[in-house]
Amino acid sequence: MFEIDLKDYKELGKSGEKISAVGVGTWGIVDRRSAIEALTYAVQLGLNHIDTAEMYLGAEEIVGEVVKDVGREKVFITTKILPSNFRDFHLCKKAAENCLKRLKVDQVDLILIHWPESYLSIEKVVNFLEKLVDEGYTRYIGVSNFSKYELEKAVESVKRYEISVNQVKYSVYDKRIELELLPYMIREKITLQAYTPLERGEVAYDRFLKNLGEKYKKTAVQIALNYLISHKEVVAIPKTERRERIIEFKGAMGWRLSLEDINLLKSKNFKF
Ligand SMILES: NC(=O)c1ccc[n+]([C@@H]2O[C@H](COP(=O)([O-])OP(=O)(O)OC[C@H]3O[C@@H](n4cnc5c(N)ncnc54)[C@H](OP(=O)(O)O)[C@@H]3O)[C@@H](O)[C@H]2O)c1
Repeated sequence: MFEIDLKDYKELGKSGEKISAVGVGTWGIVDRRSAIEALTYAVQLGLNHIDTAEMYLGAEEIVGEVVKDVGREKVFITTKILPSNFRDFHLCKKAAENCLKRLKVDQVDLILIHWPESYLSIEKVVNFLEKLVDEGYTRYIGVSNFSKYELEKAVESVKRYEISVNQVKYSVYDKRIELELLPYMIREKITLQAYTPLERGEVAYDRFLKNLGEKYKKTAVQIALNYLISHKEVVAIPKTERRERIIEFKGAMGWRLSLEDINLLKSKNFKF
């Protein structure tokens, strides 16, 4: 039986640490100043986690500016290291060091491997991630774009810490992970960070979501995000570099769709 998750601040894995059900992504920022302003505002409004990656050129530096403005303790920072840097620990450590330099922090909160690669053993990847905790680069570890099978392998490989997160694509248009991966993550209490939750902005113009939103006095974007965070263990990381859209993201929290409407969205096949 589906049970609506009412929490707007959710536990990260089994860590006891709380992060907001809606955070903010940083891929493809165009205007640096506007992004800094928007992300700072997000943190001030309580959207307390920001997702970035070594691959998002210039984004970690922008997050660093935000952290400088709002204070390190106010932001939960996730960054992602490229799989090619997991070929040996020296590379991995260097990559983590460079992330910290660009972010201008002593430690991040969460480091993920950006995606799995067939040439990397999952056991070795997890071992390197655990060493990054031991050496103080990050407080928590996780993975991204891992299938259920790959995540199971990662969980089995853990020696000292837990896999707190799997960051994967999940939107009201693309619900494939609801079949196997999400139920597994709910059972294991692993946080699912939903990326591309707005289908790169497309959901904002969806007639069906707009109509449903009228009933709740909410926008299509707020309906799309609320659907995701209504699921246990799910937090969403939509991206924007516009202050007004941050307010819109914030308005996706603090209420919930009815079970009937969640089920309606669950069974609907959106064309995209
Ligand atoms: N782990 C991975 O492999 C992976 C892959 C992809 C993404 N990610 C992470 O997830 C984050 C989010 O995913 P995403 O950036 O791919 O896509 P997204 O969040 O679904 O969409 C972002 C796009 O939607 C626009 N947008 C935001 N709010 C809007 C609104 N209210 N109305 C209309 N358009 C709106 C944004 O433009 P403006 O900025 O102009 O508002 C931006 O172009 C990324 O930034 C990144 O941090 C991770």
